[in-house]
Amino acid sequence: MIQISLQGRVALVTGAGGDLGRGMALCLAQAGASVLVNDNAFPRAQQTCDLIVEAGGRAIADPSDVTDAAAVSAMVAHAVQTLGRLDILVNNAGGIRDSRIETMSEEDWDEVHNLNLKAAFLCARAAVPQLRGSDAGRIVNIASMAYRGNIGQTNYAAAKAGLVGLTRSLGLELARDRITVNCVAPGLIETPKAAGLPEAVRDRLIRMTPMRCMGKISDIANAVLFFASDMAAFTSRQVMHVSGGMEGF
Ligand SMILES: NC(=O)c1ccc[n+]([C@@H]2O[C@H](COP(=O)([O-])OP(=O)(O)OC[C@H]3O[C@@H](n4cnc5c(N)ncnc54)[C@H](O)[C@@H]3O)[C@@H](O)[C@H]2O)c1
Repeated sequence: MIQISLQGRVALVTGAGGDLGRGMALCLAQAGASVLVNDNAFPRAQQTCDLIVEAGGRAIADPSDVTDAAAVSAMVAHAVQTLGRLDILVNNAGGIRDSRIETMSEEDWDEVHNLNLKAAFLCARAAVPQLRGSDAGRIVNIASMAYRGNIGQTNYAAAKAGLVGLTRSLGLELARDRITVNCVAPGLIETPKAAGLPEAVRDRLIRMTPMRCMGKISDIANAVLFFASDMAAFTSRQVMHVSGGMEGF
């Protein structure tokens, strides 16, 4: 039987108090990794930590704002000081501020870029010196199928497409260090947020998905686990669409 083990590895997951990030942190911990659970909404980070510890894992919570360079450096230092090393960085923190171009403010544009793209740059820059000390360094970036374009999401689609560019460039820069850099692009996923969508919108999105259903949080966590593991040691610069066959909106 093949088993994925991350025993002895340390992972840092940003935005891991949120729906998908919590699933990723729990999954990596279940595979044996110690996890630094970041979220600037600290009680949510602490909740994820508690769930990991209750299940027998090891985790610490961190409240850093990942759009702030100094806070990001402190977060990486926190991981290394308390968990001893860093092997896996998951750039998951993200969010939307949707509107059509005519009504999109500069603030809507900047905030979405700072959170979905600049934060990944800041976290990767701070983490790379530590990942170089690992024999299995991994960066996993969480994009979205919106990177291929979506109405009302010019800011988000551009930032996520930028994250794909970052993945493909950084993967080249770090290849000699055997640090892999990959991207997971979720489609429509069954989260409390998706449950809150108007029924007509949900139905339309499901009709756009060839499998005619929503993905589960575990579908995304499993893709992250694969990229983080030894199974993907020779896999870098890839974008995995976890979207029920949907190739774009
Ligand atoms: N949920 C989906 O269906 C879906 C689909 C495609 C892509 N994604 C992507 O997956 C990732 C996670 O999405 P989610 O649905 O779990 O989002 P979420 O809103 O549930 O969680 C995001 C978390 O990030 C935290 N966060 C926000 N700003 C932060 C900051 N500056 N510093 C640290 N933490 C911060 C929030 O507090 C929140 O807990 C995002 O990158 C999102 O773009 C999600």
